[in-house]
Amino acid sequence: MSSKNFKRYTVTSALPYANGPLHIGHLAGCYIPSDSYVRYLRSRGRDVAYVCGSDEHGVAITIKAKKENKTPQEIVDRYHEMMKASFGEFGISFDHYSRTSAKIHLETAQELFKNLYDKGEFLEQVTEQYYDEEANQFLADRYIEGTCPKCGNEHAYGDQCERCGTSLSPTELINPKSKLSGRTPILKETKHWFLDLAKYTDFLKKWILEEHASDWKNNVLGQCRSWLEAGDGLQARSMTRDMEWGIPVPVDGAEGKVLYVWFDAPIGYISSTKEWAAEKGIDWEPYWKDKDTKLVHFIGKDNIVFHCIIFPAILKTQGEFILPENVPANEFLNLEGDKISTSRNWAVWLHEYLEEFPGQQDVLRYVLTANSPETKDNDFTWKDFQTRNNSELVAIYGNFVNRAVVLTHKYFQGVVPVKGALTTHDLEVIAELEAFPEKIAASIERYRFREALGIMMDLARLGNKYLADTEPWKVIKTDQQRTATILNVALNIAANLAIVSEPFLPFTAAKLVSLFDLKHIKWDDAGSADLLKGGKALGEMGLLFDKIEDETVEKQVQKLLDAKKMNEAENVPVPVMKDVITYDDFAKLDMRVVTVLEAEKMPKSKKLIKLKVDTGLGHRTVLSGVAEHFEPEFLIGKQVTMLINLAPRKMMGIDSEGMILMAEDKDGKLKLLQPHEGTASGSTIS
Ligand code: MF3
Ligand code: ZN
Repeated sequence: MSSKNFKRYTVTSALPYANGPLHIGHLAGCYIPSDSYVRYLRSRGRDVAYVCGSDEHGVAITIKAKKENKTPQEIVDRYHEMMKASFGEFGISFDHYSRTSAKIHLETAQELFKNLYDKGEFLEQVTEQYYDEEANQFLADRYIEGTCPKCGNEHAYGDQCERCGTSLSPTELINPKSKLSGRTPILKETKHWFLDLAKYTDFLKKWILEEHASDWKNNVLGQCRSWLEAGDGLQARSMTRDMEWGIPVPVDGAEGKVLYVWFDAPIGYISSTKEWAAEKGIDWEPYWKDKDTKLVHFIGKDNIVFHCIIFPAILKTQGEFILPENVPANEFLNLEGDKISTSRNWAVWLHEYLEEFPGQQDVLRYVLTANSPETKDNDFTWKDFQTRNNSELVAIYGNFVNRAVVLTHKYFQGVVPVKGALTTHDLEVIAELEAFPEKIAASIERYRFREALGIMMDLARLGNKYLADTEPWKVIKTDQQRTATILNVALNIAANLAIVSEPFLPFTAAKLVSLFDLKHIKWDDAGSADLLKGGKALGEMGLLFDKIEDETVEKQVQKLLDAKKMNEAENVPVPVMKDVITYDDFAKLDMRVVTVLEAEKMPKSKKLIKLKVDTGLGHRTVLSGVAEHFEPEFLIGKQVTMLINLAPRKMMGIDSEGMILMAEDKDGKLKLLQPHEGTASGSTIS
């Protein structure tokens, strides 16, 4: 499979939901690996379409809109622009970044749905689904929450439990609750169009488990196997939803229904390609239909089933489409030992990173690749970020290039010196150099980006070692000619770094390209010690990498901890409900609206205020522990709620004849309970 020569490449990375800003988890999951891959392919002169776009449908968007009291359109407009800008700033070099609210996408998704419909691929089924009677709405996917039947997580979604990863259907949830009203939903009949996935089992098994058993990643094969070999087989999946936000289902009798977001989103890859090709004035079809096109989907592990089972089944039944050659899914990146979470604000946001580390995109790209969750979940820590910057980028890569350049300025006025006779040692180093590009390429072609990055850094190490072994700063005292040769070789190693590090560190590589004035150089030129000819003047470079101090990363860690604290404060739970009582229990309480006639602080008490109130039945004295919340004057004349048949209690020598009732929020702040308009003292409460 992998040895086949492809004419062109279609590379996709998962369309991010337009419901929040991008964070490092997004970059590490699929955008940096895909970008490195594509930059490498372009450097090899391959024909590539690298497409992506914003995923603007589905419950992820409508829930966010409801939370912020905005329309879904307002939400997606805001985040689409923001995400697009972040990708640009981090050098993610999409050929095209589209969005699923684009007209061409609606047309494409409807066309594919209609094709399947016309071919009779759908099972049309009336089933009972949860419905919120208060919100008058069916509860698709994440609109419903309940207890996971597998692990007991009380906040499992209607489609999936995020704690144990089980995929669920809403009716499996124990104690289901509507996210809209908090109520227990009812079951109501509704018609939907299901894709009968069981029909494709044989084809999928052969295609994935046989044909791709040796070239797909183990984590991906493992998940596919568990789906395909599950005891009860693949279940039919509804490709439509009862919702307003989304692409209307293009068949009769489907009013008020939209396409399931996971039906339309992957088709976004196709519509994005169409848009790109139209702008370029070329034909999009070969990128999706020619057998000589290599289609590769970069995704995170939570997207595996959609890209390996459902979307391929859809493409296959369309007839003419190609299937992905590979689906290199990454595992998850954690942050300082905890799961990244948008809602808990446990994340490093890309726009904030740029404010705090301006111009240091490559440092983040480097760390996220070096620590990429390629085969297992990994942890991002600020300490590791600092170490990798200081002892790898600064101490190895930056130091090597810098020394070669500085010495060239010092001894040769900034002009690349001409090589003289080469020593055996020089020849050995050059032979090593020659082997690097292919080694790095082989790892990239196998989607082993951390490995490729490590080898790239070995080339910088080779350069450093060469300078340390040859000691041009000593040789210059006796042998100018030999020094010239050494620096020529060293500068050539640095020029090679510009080429082979470009997929990972595009901003740094661009600095080297301008330093060496390397125009139109390609991967295939790398591996040579004659990239730079003697006599060429060096250009400007600027500092490649800067040391990161302890305070800088400590500040970042503190920022996270502060966010966690704030979040915990916000999430102090409302006290749980007390035991159920009968009406008779309740009827024993005599609560009245009373009017405060007098109020004064109790001497020697921080908390107590002595009140005289009119209960309608007479005047009473009550002590109330509200002195830290209200001034006595404020209370005079106010109507408040009082429990008047509580047995009198002596406090500080005074009989308190009842209890004033207050509302208390989670911060312990007290509020008066007042009738919304004046009422007679002694009005009963029931
Ligand atoms: N928006 C989805 C997510 O963030 C990914 C969609 S990938 C696509 O998990 F294939 F559907 F586009
Ligand atoms: Zn679970």
